[in-house]
Amino acid sequence: MVKKAVIPAAGYGTRFLPATKSSPKEMIPIIDTPVIQYVVEEAVASGITDILMIIGKGKRAIEEHFDRSPVLEETLAQKENFEMLEKIRAISEMANIHFVWQKEMNGLGDAILHARCHVGNEPFVILLGDTLVQSEDGPVTKQLIDVYNQQKGPVIALEEVKPELVSRYGVVDGESISDNVVKANDWIEKPSVEEAPSNLAVASRYLFTPEIFDYLEKTLPGKNNEIQLTDAMREMVKNHPMYGMKFKGKRYDIGNKLGFLKTNIEFGLKDPEIGAELKSWLKDFAGEL
Ligand code: UTP
Repeated sequence: MVKKAVIPAAGYGTRFLPATKSSPKEMIPIIDTPVIQYVVEEAVASGITDILMIIGKGKRAIEEHFDRSPVLEETLAQKENFEMLEKIRAISEMANIHFVWQKEMNGLGDAILHARCHVGNEPFVILLGDTLVQSEDGPVTKQLIDVYNQQKGPVIALEEVKPELVSRYGVVDGESISDNVVKANDWIEKPSVEEAPSNLAVASRYLFTPEIFDYLEKTLPGKNNEIQLTDAMREMVKNHPMYGMKFKGKRYDIGNKLGFLKTNIEFGLKDPEIGAELKSWLKDFAGEL
């Protein structure tokens, strides 16, 4: 049973400055909901009951968001806004949420290493706190857990990307063993189009067994002088069978300006309250471009 999740959310978010100067990028809203709330909802919908968030300086708003807010709750009750009251209360009751501080931003690999003590000797999932994934087959984290239950090894979510865009991503080098599962030989970070072994990009959701911590511990700073998760995965795959899982759907990286705007438009169009009006405005607006 996979019950624990780790959400790294300590990064500086330099691609979204100045908004991220004093506000966590994980709190950036998609319509009216911070991205990290969607991430927690995905974990909970996948059966996760225990979540560890890796946070750092300037990230207190994340803690507050998942805490009870008695004064706000009282105000909503007085205004008889019971629908919102229920929504607000539910946020603090979704799961057991814990926090640990990454004191120096030494990269994603280092952030995950901070989860070692909490995770202990269990398989666990990682969901990046600044990225949403949506799939027509239900929560992607749940799909990873299903593949883990069959294969009993680490499983990494993979998104099929346009071949000409592979150089933006980490991709898997491996062989298909079923419709949606690939057995990995290696993980290649940002390959050139010519060198890319596949167009299956690592997509911000991972399921690891605790051995990953041994590899992270031995990983030296790499690109940008940061401990890179991919470097640890490359060592791990030499000794442990690892798998990739293609999901039918899409990743939304909100940590950059264009990704943020596109995601808000896509989600806005599906929103029952504003979708129809946004669509009609967008059509008129596009006509004027
Ligand atoms: P990113 O590279 O997208 O985040 O890391 P970043 O470093 O905050 O962003 P830029 O590149 O400066 O704009 C992916 C995830 O890993 C976390 C981030 O918070 C994000 O959710 N992360 C990254 C950490 O927790 N610690 C780090 O040292 C680096």
